[in-house]
Amino acid sequence: MGYVGGNRSVEVLLGGLRRLEYRGYDSAGIAVIGTDGGLEVRKHAGKLRVLVDDVETNPVQDGPTGIGHTRWATHGGPTDANAHPHLGDDGRLALIHNGIIENFAELKTELLVAHPETVFTSETDSEVAAHLVGYAFRDTGDVTEALRRVVAKLQGAFTLLVLHRDQPGVVVGARRNSPLVIGLGENENFLGSDVAAFVEHTRRALAIGQDQIVTITADSVSVTDFDGNPVDTEEFEVTWDASAAEKGGWSSFMAKEISEQPEAVANTLLGRSADGAVHIPELDGLDDTLRGIERIVILGCGTAAYAGMIGKYAIEKWARIPVEVDLSHEFRYREPVIDERTLVLSISQSGETMDTLMAVKYAIEAGAKTISICNTQGATIARESDAVIYTHAGPEVAVASTKALVAQVTAVYLFGLHLARLRGTLGTAEASVLLAELQAVPAKLATVLEQHAEIRELAHWMSDTRSVLFLGRHVGYPVALEGALKLKELAYIHAEGFAAGELKHGPIALIEPGQPVFVVVPSPRGADSLHPKVVSNIQEIRARGARVLAIAEAGDASVLPYADKVFTIPPASAFFEPLLAFAPLQIFAMELAAAKGLDVDQPRNLAKSVTVE
Ligand code: F6R
Repeated sequence: MGYVGGNRSVEVLLGGLRRLEYRGYDSAGIAVIGTDGGLEVRKHAGKLRVLVDDVETNPVQDGPTGIGHTRWATHGGPTDANAHPHLGDDGRLALIHNGIIENFAELKTELLVAHPETVFTSETDSEVAAHLVGYAFRDTGDVTEALRRVVAKLQGAFTLLVLHRDQPGVVVGARRNSPLVIGLGENENFLGSDVAAFVEHTRRALAIGQDQIVTITADSVSVTDFDGNPVDTEEFEVTWDASAAEKGGWSSFMAKEISEQPEAVANTLLGRSADGAVHIPELDGLDDTLRGIERIVILGCGTAAYAGMIGKYAIEKWARIPVEVDLSHEFRYREPVIDERTLVLSISQSGETMDTLMAVKYAIEAGAKTISICNTQGATIARESDAVIYTHAGPEVAVASTKALVAQVTAVYLFGLHLARLRGTLGTAEASVLLAELQAVPAKLATVLEQHAEIRELAHWMSDTRSVLFLGRHVGYPVALEGALKLKELAYIHAEGFAAGELKHGPIALIEPGQPVFVVVPSPRGADSLHPKVVSNIQEIRARGARVLAIAEAGDASVLPYADKVFTIPPASAFFEPLLAFAPLQIFAMELAAAKGLDVDQPRNLAKSVTVE
């Protein structure tokens, strides 16, 4: 983040970094131009706490101009030296960087030819940019001009923020693909990777486009393209409340966000139906396009891709159109067959995941229509797409996605019903029954959360477990995959999710006496219920000694004889079960991680917004 304003940079930067820490927490640092005109840099490997402790014991000379960074390591491990800011111009300039400068090695060689005296103190690609801007400043005497010269040479994705001691009161930022937003205050202005950086000071924000440079002072903001031509910016009001991104009495952000899931579903449904039919106002104007498309490709990564898998089942069933789901990074680099009759539906909580952004850009170039499902206002993927369906989960701070996932699933269901209405593939009565079921989810989900203590007990009891398997069929299959992902990322336990029918084709060999297996059991009701098939799968693993932990509909007595433990979800038709079945698995993973003494909000090696490919 960057700040220019009153003499309180240190407090503003550390406060902003605290809200941004979820984006990366390998190391943290600040650079401040003090009221005495000196430039001071503090940076440390480890969580933000280490930096804060240092600044508290040994205060930095405060001043009106500063930049701050939390890091998720790409080039060079998480050490003090590799932490940002990096210095240029003999310590008079400081720079922070998100992203990857792909041609940094080449640039470094050129730089050492031109300036053999340059001393590099880190292994990062970012430090090369700091020196380049430093030398450019010596020629231009102006940070904006210097940064403009340098970005013209950079390849890759980056957000760079720079300040120079000889030009106090100015912070300059540049972006290509990585995110950057401006916060407009009273006699103070902010830059941040997302609005969380400044939401406690101002709700007024400006989104910056690709390949643009912004210069802020306390009372001015100027945005140009990389060639220096002024560009128009779009102001928006941040709807997130600063307190929504506070822990507020909960043991972790994750615990708080799990509890907010009923609200996340309810808020995502709001204003998107009338008279029993789904109508997504954000898609107005795309009716002909949506009637004309022949195929849908859903893209996402990790948990968002699982929301996409659920979407495939629903959209194919309701709107009778072929749907493919792909991981964004696999889609992008295999020359996928897409054209103007393909709709690419991307799903991303942050709206900044680089893999998904690159895949969406590729789809746009190939002529496809694009819609994104996104939780973050003004995010890059949302801005690049033809239309965006915002999920209204509120800020998700814990690295592991929970409430954003249920909001994403709600949004893809809404999209499926919207499409089915336009294409006339569902009867009005049937569509309104489905909508009513969706609307009933928040209340049902609240009752699932009441089993928290019971799930915690199981998780604590299983804290020595070394491997857990998850099984599901149909929409229960992505639920199984998600259950496994949560356990891996939070509790560092080997976990795998399988389609239950696939087990006999190999993975059943993993089952040995005592192996815990979570099984997502579909409702026994409904003519085409897969319940009998899943019960057979349970018997197959039980016969080989598995310990079965079932998630089943309340009142489903048929699984009781075969399960060691049953967590119940209220009755719901097959499609809506995932929205109820995720929570027990999220709680299980979180509580097991907590029992092992791990940090559930910031698991090792991860970052919330993965803005590198
Ligand atoms: C897992 C998790 C990740 C994200 C993935 C995509 O709990 O949170 O797998 O779902 O990195 O992130 P977004 O949705 O921001 O594109």
